[in-house]
Amino acid sequence: MTATAETAELRDAPVLDIDPYSMEVLRDPYPFQEALREAGPVAFLEPHGVYAVGRHAEAKTVLADYSRFTNSGGIGIQDVRQPGDFRIPSRLLEVDPPDHTRVRAVVTRVLSPLVIRRWKEGFAEKADALVTKLIETGEFDGVQDCAEAFILEAFPAAVGVRLPRVETLAIGEMRFNQSGPKNELYHAAMANAQPYLAWFEESVQRDAVLPGSIADLLFQAEEAGELEEGVASNVVRSFVGGGTDSTISGVGSALHGLARDPAQWDKVRAEPAKVKAAFEEGIRHESPFQVTYRTTTGATNLSGIRLKGDTKIGVFLGAVNRDPRQWADPDRFDIDRPQLAGAHLAMGTGVHACIGQMIARGESEALLAAMARRIKSVTLTAPATYRTINQMRMLDKLPLRVVSA
Ligand code: HEM
Repeated sequence: MTATAETAELRDAPVLDIDPYSMEVLRDPYPFQEALREAGPVAFLEPHGVYAVGRHAEAKTVLADYSRFTNSGGIGIQDVRQPGDFRIPSRLLEVDPPDHTRVRAVVTRVLSPLVIRRWKEGFAEKADALVTKLIETGEFDGVQDCAEAFILEAFPAAVGVRLPRVETLAIGEMRFNQSGPKNELYHAAMANAQPYLAWFEESVQRDAVLPGSIADLLFQAEEAGELEEGVASNVVRSFVGGGTDSTISGVGSALHGLARDPAQWDKVRAEPAKVKAAFEEGIRHESPFQVTYRTTTGATNLSGIRLKGDTKIGVFLGAVNRDPRQWADPDRFDIDRPQLAGAHLAMGTGVHACIGQMIARGESEALLAAMARRIKSVTLTAPATYRTINQMRMLDKLPLRVVSA
């Protein structure tokens, strides 16, 4: 086919006049997700002047092809290269190869399976201690008392950064609202985090991190000249920013799914290895990162749709992970789905695929396994509620009752 014939067959993106960052959509994202998927392989979101993808096939293409869809404009809706929209970009997530490749190689070595295995024992001990408390209490909030309590203890110990609850949650809320448009949520989260910014900056510096931790290994790599000056603290900052709320959200979703369906809890109890599938299905069903952006490097096309250059394109992972073209009965939480890990895109794909996924899985599986071993039944005592955050889908309250085995 000649270039002219190819161009002639291209269509403009269908226009969608829905704001995915409105409170209405953030409270109930499913109608938007469906509208986006059904609009076409890619749509133009009129309220923000950006492209959006909600189907699995196109999401994979955009995330894999950094030559046409760059990370250098940042993974939020604002272009971090534009004056006024500047924030400190992640030296991993907001750069393309070859700069990305060099940093990623060092971080991958630091997060080797050997290092992670060392931390897994600690996760199991902490999980057991927490489950003892939860059983004694009987009724508790599955978010604050369980997912949050566990991750805020297990994760900082491994990474080597002190993460007190109030400060950490305020920084997380800022991080995942800041990547959206400058709406009320953005401004409120920025104001709320203001008192903790200096603390956060200090806590990711060399002298603040715990000896023997993952952060310590990153600083050692910097001292050995494997990373440029300043990159270690930047990566630690990405770890804390990217690895805390996301995992709390994922554990919460897995627990929510299991608590709603006693038959699936029984399956996990009968076959503890199924906690892996429970976590994967949790993050497929309610993807913690609802959206991540790229920027077109020039005029291009995607599945027959013409795209302008230098324009943001959002990959709506929440929509993608419920795409009926990829999943049978996608709205159902089902731990028996074939081929979960590697097929859902909750952890991304391509060169930027989540580098902390082994940690997230190690933590979540430790907690779910300890619960499955020692808890006979887990039930919801009231409907769960969600927080409203620009980029993230995260439970606010998950009222649970458990009965000891
Ligand atoms: C359930 C938990 C988690 C989820 C759902 C998640 C999700 C993701 C996604 C979707 C990406 C790719 C974003 C993109 O391509 O735009 C990513 C990348 C990343 N994640 Fe995670 N993540 C989780 C846990 C963690 C943890 C525990 C850490 C830290 C230890 C972490 C650190 C990172 C970093 C540093 C990147 C950037 C990697 C790169 O650019 O090469 N994440 N994550």
